[in-house]
Amino acid sequence: MSTRIPGFYNLLPEERLSQIAKATNLTDKELEIIKGNKGFSVKEADRMIENVIGYMPIPLGIAVNFKINNKDVFIPMATEEPSVVAAASNAAKYAYDSGGFTTSYSGAIMRGQIQITEVKDPYGALAKVYENKREILQLCNKQDPTLVSLGGGAKNLEVHVIDGPTKKMVVVHLFVDTKDAMGANAVNTMAEAVAPLLEKITNGKVVLRILSNLADQRIVRARATFQDPFNDNKEAMNKFMDAYELAMIDPYRAATHNKGIMNGISSVVLASGNDTRAVEAGAHAYASRLGTYRSLTHWEKGENHSIIGTIELPLAVGLIAGATTSHPVAKLATKIMQVETAEELASNIASVGLAQNFAALRVLASEGIQQGHMRLHARNLALMAGAKDNQIDKVIELAAKQGKFKFDDIKKIVKALSY
Ligand code: MEV
Repeated sequence: MSTRIPGFYNLLPEERLSQIAKATNLTDKELEIIKGNKGFSVKEADRMIENVIGYMPIPLGIAVNFKINNKDVFIPMATEEPSVVAAASNAAKYAYDSGGFTTSYSGAIMRGQIQITEVKDPYGALAKVYENKREILQLCNKQDPTLVSLGGGAKNLEVHVIDGPTKKMVVVHLFVDTKDAMGANAVNTMAEAVAPLLEKITNGKVVLRILSNLADQRIVRARATFQDPFNDNKEAMNKFMDAYELAMIDPYRAATHNKGIMNGISSVVLASGNDTRAVEAGAHAYASRLGTYRSLTHWEKGENHSIIGTIELPLAVGLIAGATTSHPVAKLATKIMQVETAEELASNIASVGLAQNFAALRVLASEGIQQGHMRLHARNLALMAGAKDNQIDKVIELAAKQGKFKFDDIKKIVKALSY
């Protein structure tokens, strides 16, 4: 199976779906779910959150051209933002022939925090928690025999004495291998279960018992070589590198740079039914771990006018429980990606983030993003102005030629074409 499908962009939605269905063995029933005919009902929505009155559909696109760890993968992306899917697909094309994306994974270790206050001797308490480590971890693991039977569970702990604005407190960190689950439930259950034991050991009072979204023990790294993206134009390459350098030193730029990365990452996280806020909180906190908020990616010049990109970030995503298993479209998104482990899912997500950043820097350092955006914007305006499907490309072409993208201009173009 190859994800290189020239002209995929120009097909009709049903033609695209039929190609993806063939490549990933989707059944007729699954096709109906993706089209929205049988997918998600208000009844299902009502089981998922509270006070439901309906649901809000978000477009689901497929990014093509991705090869990740030597396997071609179609990437489902759920996003309301134009350009994101096209940019990811376009970027992945530059990396395809040089082997695509290669990733590594630290394992699925999540941290749970138990905050203990009113401890008279915080450092004495710290020592006592370590002395009782075995018993604490055993009690954690009693909470989740299934996870333990799969090789996961509480593996270690760390104790921190923290200086708050008015008092010292002790914070115990549990390290839990959550395997193919995102892990929030497993970690929170363990943190709550060991709280009374920790109060006894430390003689303090437990306040918070919750996982940390700074999942710095669940790190994914992705790397790719983008072949000659500037047609040997040294100035364009240098501008790309200058744009990257600003994101390494200036938090104002880094925030936008990382937002672009998250355009790709959150779209796949959402499509797979995972928690976008957890991933975003983790990514941004990780981006500031060295004291200054900075880029999640690095860029280096490679051989033969190529550019080598790397990304490193925490990705707390899973395939077990939550919307990933209960949302019919999310289930199909993971089927389309043919992922069987949290590691594979995280690898795909990190690769998309890297591709997205490449695409953004490349266009920002050359013509700027408005040209492409305005063309997509013109498509929406043309539809609003009543253009027929077969007129839209012409409307965009004329608007671009005249440099006119206001609604009134588009209306005039549509009117002229309709005579
Ligand atoms: C827009 O959604 C994302 C960009 O601003 C990212 C960037 O500036 O790198 C284009």
